[in-house]
Amino acid sequence: MQTYDFDKIIDRTGSDDIKHADLLRDYGRTDLLPMWIADMEWETPPFIIDALRKRLDHPLLGYTKTPRDYTRTIAQWIYDRHQWHVNPDHITYIPGIVKGIGYVINCFLKPGDKVIVQPPIYHPFYLTPQHNGYEVVWNPLTPVTDDEGHIVTYEMDFDNLAQVCDPHCRLLILANPHNPVGITWSKPTLQRLAHFAVEHNLIVVSDEIHCDMALFSTRHLPFASVSPEAEQCSITFSAPTKTFNMAGVVSSWTVVPDPTLRKKFFGWMQASELNEDPMFASIAAVAALKHGEPWREQMVHYLEGNITYLIDYCRQHIPLIRPVPPQASYLVWLDCRDLRMTHEQLIDFFVNHAHLALSDGEQFGKREGHGFMRMNVGCPRSMLHQALLQLQNAVDELGK
Ligand SMILES: Cc1ncc(COP(=O)(O)O)c(C=O)c1O
Repeated sequence: MQTYDFDKIIDRTGSDDIKHADLLRDYGRTDLLPMWIADMEWETPPFIIDALRKRLDHPLLGYTKTPRDYTRTIAQWIYDRHQWHVNPDHITYIPGIVKGIGYVINCFLKPGDKVIVQPPIYHPFYLTPQHNGYEVVWNPLTPVTDDEGHIVTYEMDFDNLAQVCDPHCRLLILANPHNPVGITWSKPTLQRLAHFAVEHNLIVVSDEIHCDMALFSTRHLPFASVSPEAEQCSITFSAPTKTFNMAGVVSSWTVVPDPTLRKKFFGWMQASELNEDPMFASIAAVAALKHGEPWREQMVHYLEGNITYLIDYCRQHIPLIRPVPPQASYLVWLDCRDLRMTHEQLIDFFVNHAHLALSDGEQFGKREGHGFMRMNVGCPRSMLHQALLQLQNAVDELGK
């Protein structure tokens, strides 16, 4: 089996990558180690680049049919990885998951409807409804702490959900696995959520973009697969773009098992050709799913090593910063509350003292993210080590 090199440093100069290009705009300086936006520092796997290059060998890029096996390949991948049987006819392309959330909002909601989100949460989950004119209802996750009071994970707060959900709530957006706290939700939790949703006439959008990066011994459960109720109320979004580091190709899909929801949503998209795949999106997806399992396994193994390294390093050298151990993906929620800084001080500390560009926790929820930062560890270990050294030095300086 081919082995891939995840230690290799890739110079992204000349690629216009957002992680570097927006440093000055968002952080005020460019001499930072960027560990924010959610793509990885590893090469996009060669079998994806090769498939795209092969198509470019043909001199004409006219209107092109979707690869015949596109939806079947996705269904097979979902079954092989997550044991969820999906009918290929229930799958269609969407041009990005955030856009997909916007589509659901515009297809299903009417003025006065509301959208429930569970912070701390990936910010487009609340910004997309708000920017489309809909009120957001907040159901914060509850931190779960160990004996020493350190956050180890979060739980959904069903009591609060029952209180805040009113008859205007029409949609709940679920991150499964969760960004930024990396939770793979349990079956009882997802079943309970599905039951609640059906009782309250809610559509659940389950964003499963991080699902193929479950870590250690955890397992991702597709929301729609946990019960007939979940199947009935759900619109699932997923993509190979995070797992195979090809976000720029913009290649995602939706699965809608319920015939009524599907007819309405697919019909709404088809009316404006919003679900027609650009040629490179489906070529890259099929290449990733057909050839990607060995690469994915090796990448997840390397990532587990990075996460263990980060947690151990912080425990030994930077105890004031506590990573919440993620169960999936490469985004790590850092509890920095022991630094006892205001929001502005924390940002200034990371940027101007540690020289790191992380995602600021308050962006995921003003209250729930206060005192937290999100670190992207999808990178060569040497880069992670450098970041931790910079962070350690900056924390040590505080005590002087
Ligand atoms: C949970 C989640 N959903 C969606 C996205 C973005 O997906 P897309 O680029 O397909 O809109 C991200 C990217 O960070 C994410 O973390």
